[in-house]
Amino acid sequence: MSAPKKLYIKTYGCQMNVYDSERMAETLGGQGYVETKTPDDADMILLNTCHIREKAAEKVYSELGRFKGLKAEKPDLKIGVAGCVAQAEGEEIMRRQPLVDLVVGPQSYHRLPEMEAKAGAGEKVLDTDFPEEDKFEKLKRRPKAKRGPTAFLTVQEGCDKFCAFCVVPYTRGAEVSRPADRILREAEDLVERGVREITLLGQNVNAYHGAGPNGDMTLAQLIWELDKVEGLERIRFTTSHPNDMMDDLIEAHGTCAKLMPYLHLPVQAGSDKILKRMNRSHTAESYIRLIERIRAARPDILISGDFIVGFPEETEEDFQATLDLVEEVKYGTAYSFKYSTRPGTPAAERAQVDPKEADDRLQRLQALLTRQQREVQDSMVGRELGVLFEKKGRFPGQMVGKSDYLHAVHVADCDAEIGDLRRVRIVSSGANSLAGELIA
Ligand code: 5AD
Ligand code: SF4
Repeated sequence: MSAPKKLYIKTYGCQMNVYDSERMAETLGGQGYVETKTPDDADMILLNTCHIREKAAEKVYSELGRFKGLKAEKPDLKIGVAGCVAQAEGEEIMRRQPLVDLVVGPQSYHRLPEMEAKAGAGEKVLDTDFPEEDKFEKLKRRPKAKRGPTAFLTVQEGCDKFCAFCVVPYTRGAEVSRPADRILREAEDLVERGVREITLLGQNVNAYHGAGPNGDMTLAQLIWELDKVEGLERIRFTTSHPNDMMDDLIEAHGTCAKLMPYLHLPVQAGSDKILKRMNRSHTAESYIRLIERIRAARPDILISGDFIVGFPEETEEDFQATLDLVEEVKYGTAYSFKYSTRPGTPAAERAQVDPKEADDRLQRLQALLTRQQREVQDSMVGRELGVLFEKKGRFPGQMVGKSDYLHAVHVADCDAEIGDLRRVRIVSSGANSLAGELIA
């Protein structure tokens, strides 16, 4: 038997890319590839890329340049670009970087085995179709190997919202939901392999409307089906849009014990003028009222958000409205970005904010968000929480897991195994994590 070929995948961007990378590795496993952690001994390198901000895309080109030496040493090495930069700029990548053998978009990676064969025969291959067939059906069933206690599961892809700054509707295409029975089958497979927590993924996950036995199902209905899967202990989902936060989903946060008290609900900005120009179709007020309803259902829920500062035509007053909204909501965690012009999106044509001003706003917003994040984390001290243990710590006997609210928790002298969900009393709050002790 010949030695297995080695595949190095580097993943940029969101959790959907993490999920896609796993599926690509599994697919190429059928071609005799095993994963390696460094590009140095790889027979194939795949960069699974992100196009959301300019910097993310530029990183890909600089990373590709670094493989020049490797390719010179090993002419059979195949280099591929996958993900959203591949989708958006596939032909340009081929032109700009002759090292690249293969370009595959996020909707066509089930075709990787054929593409790999062609690349192996010396062809340059590009596939950025949005094919008719469902890639998840064409992909092999996931292997049965044991795996860690947490997993991502993509249930919905694409977006029809067309926020004025965002490339997702162009790179990932229109919104499509996977049928519920396939998702349940995949969840059961994951649980058999040791998974205890599943995060349902979608660019607009709460717009989920996949086929069920009696017509389309909502995300809440899907969550209730997953709730019945024995051995699955925790369910999360991300990313949601405020306008798709339906009553049954809000209610599930109060009644479904497996659904964790954590919600990533981006608002992007706090000024109604900017929200309108962003084409968000909600106001600051409607978002705040929504958060109130969610907190009425689940008072302790941790709210997470995304923000963009320096969106075209944002004034200091508009920015103040963002700070006011943040003060009012109180975020447990948040991601904030400086607006990045994306060619082809409507906002790219508008008057840009002075980059220095945008930097300054970003710093001010991040200072506020960091303070809130810290306060929420510190408020966990003294509480008894569920912790799902994911790995050993740096010190002997120490274990590390995640709380229901997704904070990292370190426990010393811990007899829990990886994959155990245990009750932990939180004793202190550090820079980026909590420390606790097992309860009985
Ligand atoms: N510039 C800056 N941030 C962006 N995001 C999306 N597009 C852009 C852009 N052009 C942010 C949004 C989104 C997150 C995934 O990335 O906040 O919620
Ligand atoms: Fe992009 Fe999210 Fe807006 Fe869709 S809802 S266009 S993915 S920011």
